[in-house]
Amino acid sequence: MITRIGPPIFLNPSKDVALPAMRQNQGMRDYYIGLMSGTSLDGADGVLVDFSGDTMQVLGAASEPFTQDFRAGLLALNTAGHDELHRAAQAGNALAGVYARVVGRLLEDAAAQGLTAGQIRAIGAHGQTVRHQPQRISPQADGAGYTIQLNNPALLAELTGLDVVADFRSRDVAAGGQGAPLVPAFHQSVFGSADAMVSVLNLGGIANLSVLPAGGQGEVLGFDCGPGNALMDAWCHQHTGQAFDAGGRWAASGKLLPVLLASLLDEPYLSAPPPKSTGRDLFSVQWLAARLAPFAGERPEDIQYTLTELTARACISCVSSYGKDSKELLVCGGGAFNLHLMQRLQAGLPSMRVSSSQAHGLPPLQVEAAAFAWLARQTINRKPGNLATVTGAAGARILGAVYPA
Ligand SMILES: Nc1ncnc2c1ncn2[C@@H]1O[C@H](COP(=O)(O)OP(=O)(O)OP(=O)(O)O)[C@@H](O)[C@H]1O
Ligand SMILES: [Mg+2]
Repeated sequence: MITRIGPPIFLNPSKDVALPAMRQNQGMRDYYIGLMSGTSLDGADGVLVDFSGDTMQVLGAASEPFTQDFRAGLLALNTAGHDELHRAAQAGNALAGVYARVVGRLLEDAAAQGLTAGQIRAIGAHGQTVRHQPQRISPQADGAGYTIQLNNPALLAELTGLDVVADFRSRDVAAGGQGAPLVPAFHQSVFGSADAMVSVLNLGGIANLSVLPAGGQGEVLGFDCGPGNALMDAWCHQHTGQAFDAGGRWAASGKLLPVLLASLLDEPYLSAPPPKSTGRDLFSVQWLAARLAPFAGERPEDIQYTLTELTARACISCVSSYGKDSKELLVCGGGAFNLHLMQRLQAGLPSMRVSSSQAHGLPPLQVEAAAFAWLARQTINRKPGNLATVTGAAGARILGAVYPA
């Protein structure tokens, strides 16, 4: 799928993360590619972005879905297993291949607009998170946490002939942070409003929230709320063979199981204060199976309704606690296409307008990819990409490693 040319979006200067001097290359364009493949394991999304001037313009977008086998292999790598180092290395190579094909399609499309590969400054490639254990076990270095995004940026540089920036999260974790979320600074720069607080909810496999204070005054907040689509996808696939519940229609055909919902919401992560981040390490299929065991006789669509409600309630609780003065909740990530979930969010947040990021000129599946283009640009310009107030890191850090073309 290739989408062309979004509208220019004006970037807000960020108080915490200084934007690179926007006009340092007056007259020169400032093109980056961002590649994201998240915890939903649905595929890779890429965007080609022009950051010239005070605007950000998506010039092209392309996605490639993961094959069933590749998805299953990545899912298996989320837990310990036989010969996992070898399988992880192979998966990183295969992912670099998927990324390279997405880049190839973006460049083909760009060529039709008169843009050459040599004009692209760098690719920001997130990689595939298979472990996320950022918490420090002891203050000593050997007790530091870690986060692992499978990738082979060297191979991607080789395949594309472009500079690649990768491994964005490790430096923040090394500085004592959660390594996540990294998108709030970007959200602030794109969606922040001069006169109103705005909340941005990314519904990927995991759900994360950014709370953007009016006029950039005050701290940007951001953290992972809990499960986004990951559990709904797993249940839907198990019972219907479909990768996800399109539009949330299957869930909407069911009804709430209140006792199950209470048991799901009982997970301590959901009520812990930020900074916090999570992943499939916690919200795994094993976590789900253990909680569903007493409900084996229930109708699958009622379970799907209840899993959708878990995501909705976890997010509503976070927005109500940390972003309650927002007039607007902008939703991005593939969950924005789940209309049933969107309706449940709106019902639980009656004081604000819940809408897709599309309403602000950025389609839901382009937001996180654009964020990694932006983060690559921060790295190339030797600017910090994290917000220490969000991740809990000791301070602002230049993120990522650069693999020159
Ligand atoms: N039409 C749709 N209806 C319902 N859900 C959808 C639809 N399209 C996509 N989704 C959901 O969105 C998911 C993909 O979203 P996305 O790519 O944003 O998540 P992700 O890969 O986990 O990314 P990230 O980690 O960056 O948030 C799918 O797995 C599915 O659950
Ligand atoms: Mg995805």
